[in-house]
Amino acid sequence: MTNQSNPLAFDRYAFGADFVWGTATAAYQIEGAVDRDGRTPCVWDTFGRQKGKIKTGETADVACEFYDRYESDLLIHKELGFNAFRFSIAWSRMLPDGVGPRHGGRINEAGLAFYDRLIDHCLRLDITPWITLYHWDLPHALELKGGWPNRKIVDWFADFADVCTKAFGHKVKHWIILNEPLAFSVLGYFTGQHAPGRRSFRNLLPVIHHTALAQAEGGRIVRQNVPDAQVGTTFSCSPIDPFTPSDQAAAIRVDALMNRLFIEPALGLGYPTRELPFLAGIAKKVAKPGDMERLAFDFDFVGLQHYFRAVVEQSYFMPYLWAKDVSPLRRNVQTITEMGWEVYPESMYRIIRQFGQYEGVKKIYITESGAAFYDRVEQGIVNDQARVEYHQNYLQQVLRAKQEGLPVEGYFAWTFLDNFEWAEGYRPRFGLVYVDFRTQQRIIKKSGRWFQQLLTKETFVGKH
Ligand code: BGC
Repeated sequence: MTNQSNPLAFDRYAFGADFVWGTATAAYQIEGAVDRDGRTPCVWDTFGRQKGKIKTGETADVACEFYDRYESDLLIHKELGFNAFRFSIAWSRMLPDGVGPRHGGRINEAGLAFYDRLIDHCLRLDITPWITLYHWDLPHALELKGGWPNRKIVDWFADFADVCTKAFGHKVKHWIILNEPLAFSVLGYFTGQHAPGRRSFRNLLPVIHHTALAQAEGGRIVRQNVPDAQVGTTFSCSPIDPFTPSDQAAAIRVDALMNRLFIEPALGLGYPTRELPFLAGIAKKVAKPGDMERLAFDFDFVGLQHYFRAVVEQSYFMPYLWAKDVSPLRRNVQTITEMGWEVYPESMYRIIRQFGQYEGVKKIYITESGAAFYDRVEQGIVNDQARVEYHQNYLQQVLRAKQEGLPVEGYFAWTFLDNFEWAEGYRPRFGLVYVDFRTQQRIIKKSGRWFQQLLTKETFVGKH
């Protein structure tokens, strides 16, 4: 059905009958109801209340009110034709003390009941639920006990994974352990731009190591409690290009940090210490005997979260990495999103190829891709043509990878609803559905309608 005369045109059949079409969301960005029914604060609640941490001064207290509106929202999701919905479980809604019963903590029955209803509603609508265990909302109670730099986090996280899989494993068969380990470890504990906002190099190696251990340990728990589950985890990833030929070595180092740091230990390849010698400090100072073996876990799939490529150059001012980003602005790139990210569709193909080359990677899902553009409501319509083109062009590159035999089996658009974009507040809108945050009105954008056409109509041809 692919239209040969137009290389940009495609329809859903080209991706195969089993291809998963979903949207991705995260609890903290959409739920609201932060103090309802026994939920306790997470690090983003406390971080967001500190002056200047959220650029717009906004909070996620209300967000999209998804906690109360999930039923009608999922009807919209259904209408758009998606067959999978990725959401995360708010740790402090399930375990208000952070720790689970094995460490003397309580299970919050009301929190459990919410996710149970949400899952049932998905199943009723024939939408497959994909659960992310950790999408950055560490319970504040655990941050008070030291957070990710404390090795005990591996056990705390294992408890959480155990409780969630025992509660929902009989109904949910797709589990994602972590959302983008690199983002929450580096931004949360090294640069301090994200919660909990700590800034120290001393924390960085322990945080990386505990995160990588939790990633594998979480995998083992899901496998044990839900033997018929598909278990995966997600990585933020970007092809890295050198700015000039002499920046090649810098690009290799940045690639090790951005793309290899968390997948390679999971695949039994260890940390990329050859390119990033400072990581050797993990084995020397942080790890316990036997840890290096515990880092490996045989994931059924990896989730790639891809938005932009990066171009880097050598820099003597950036310790350890000796490289820095060359911004799209400096490169005179015209097509950038509201986040300042370069729109560069071919990078999707390249990153799938890069990850597909690992022998241990069996299946790939694009668990996030999307773009923030300035949206305007005009006569009740949001004509977000730039977002339509973003998804269409990135999907085209997914298809190209698939047609070359790479094992890519699904695409989750980031994101379903406009939502709380972390330290940026509500301003960057990534949704396929517009949310008026004053009234909570939803308006399906043109991009949402584009997906609806692609996923539900027989006559769809991708190019508009
Ligand atoms: C995260 C999302 C975030 C999106 C856009 C991803 O890194 O998983 O939570 O909203 O990118 O910035």
